[in-house]
Amino acid sequence: MMHSLAVCLWVAACFTWTSAIYHPHRQAVHKKLRYLLEPPVYPEVSAQRGANTTLPCLLRLKPPRYKVKWTKLEAPRLGVENIILITNGHDQRGYGSLGPRASLRRAHTLDASLRIANLSLEDDGRYRCELVNGLEDESVTITLRIEGVVFPYQSRNGRYRLNFQEAKDACEGQDARLATYPQLYRAWTEGLDWCNAGWLDDGTVHYPIIQPREPCGGKLLLPGIRSYGPKDKAGERFDAFCFTSSSAGQVFFVGGRLSYTEAVKACGVQGAKIAQVGHLYAAWRFSGLDRCDGGWLEDGSVRFPIATPRQHCGGLPEPGVRSFGFPDKALHTYGVYCYR
Ligand SMILES: *[C@@H]1O[C@H](CO)[C@@H](O)[C@H](O)[C@H]1NC(C)=O
Ligand SMILES: *[C@@H]1O[C@H](CO)[C@@H](O)[C@H](O)[C@H]1NC(C)=O
Repeated sequence: MMHSLAVCLWVAACFTWTSAIYHPHRQAVHKKLRYLLEPPVYPEVSAQRGANTTLPCLLRLKPPRYKVKWTKLEAPRLGVENIILITNGHDQRGYGSLGPRASLRRAHTLDASLRIANLSLEDDGRYRCELVNGLEDESVTITLRIEGVVFPYQSRNGRYRLNFQEAKDACEGQDARLATYPQLYRAWTEGLDWCNAGWLDDGTVHYPIIQPREPCGGKLLLPGIRSYGPKDKAGERFDAFCFTSSSAGQVFFVGGRLSYTEAVKACGVQGAKIAQVGHLYAAWRFSGLDRCDGGWLEDGSVRFPIATPRQHCGGLPEPGVRSFGFPDKALHTYGVYCYR
C-alpha cells in the first residue's frame, strides 16, 4: 500500500528509478516491492497557477477524416462528459468553463496538443485526448498537476468544527480550495505531519503522519496517510486540508503593535489588503518568505513563515508556517502580513 511507506525511503525509490533510466540494459528484477514505492510511470505535466501549459497529444498517422476531442476526467456528474475542445483538423471549438482558456498548439500537422492559459487551482486533474475516427477510436490520458502547497486549516472556534461545505468555504476564503488525495499524499512525501483529521475535496477524511506517535493512531502503525474514508458531509465535523499555488501578488510584513483593526488599516495605507492564509503559505513556499514576527491575517489568525528554521523562531526543526491560533482581535500585540 502506498500510504504505509516510510518517507525516508521515498528518496531511495527515486534513486532506484533514476538509475534504471541510466542503465536501460540492466535486467529489471521483478520482485514484489515491500519497502519501496513503485515510481510513477504515468504521463504528468506540472505548472503553477497563472501559468500557461501544454498537454501533449500527437498523431502518429493522420486519418483522412477524424476529430480530436479533449475532455477533463472528473467524478461523473450525471454521466455528463466534460468536453473542453473538439477539432476536425481545421476548425476548433471550445466548450464549458475551460473552453475560453483552451486552444490547440498546432506546432505541426500532427500536433493535437492542448494549451491551457492562466491555470487555476481547479485545473488540476486528468485529461483525455481522444481520436474519433469512426472505426478505431483511441485515447491517451495525461495528468495536469498544479504545483502548490497543502495546509491544514482549523475553524477559529476550535478543532473539528467544519462540516464538508464549511471546510470547502473555509479554503476558498483563504485563496485555496480543498486538497485532493494526490495533493495530500504528495504533501506527506514532502514532510507534512499533522495529527488532526481534515476533509478532502471528495468528501473523504484523512491525516498525514510521518512520526508515528501515541495520540495520532499509535506508534505501531507505519508512517503514512491515516484514512477515515468517506464521511457524512452534512453531519460530521473535522478540520480541512486546503491547497493553494503561487499567486500574482506579493506578501510583505508591516511591523508594529497592532490590533486586528489597525492591521487592516496598515495594509490599506500601503495600497494592499491584509493577506489570507493561502497567500502566506504560497509566499513561504514559492518565494521563500521567512520572518520571525507573528502577523495578523485576514481570518483573524496570527502566523509567521519560517523557511530557515532557527532556535529562537519557534524552535521547530522543520521549515513551515507557524500559528499562534486566533488571538483576541483587540490585542495590540502583532504586526501584519499584507498582500498586494
Ligand atoms: C500566456 O499566454 C498568453 C498568450 O496566449 C500571454 O499573453 C501570457 O503572457 C502568457 N502567460 C504566461 C504566464 O506566460
Ligand atoms: C487569470 O485568472 C484569474 C482568475 O482565476 C483572473 O483573476 C485573472 O485576471 C486572469 N489573468 C489573465 C491574464 O487572464
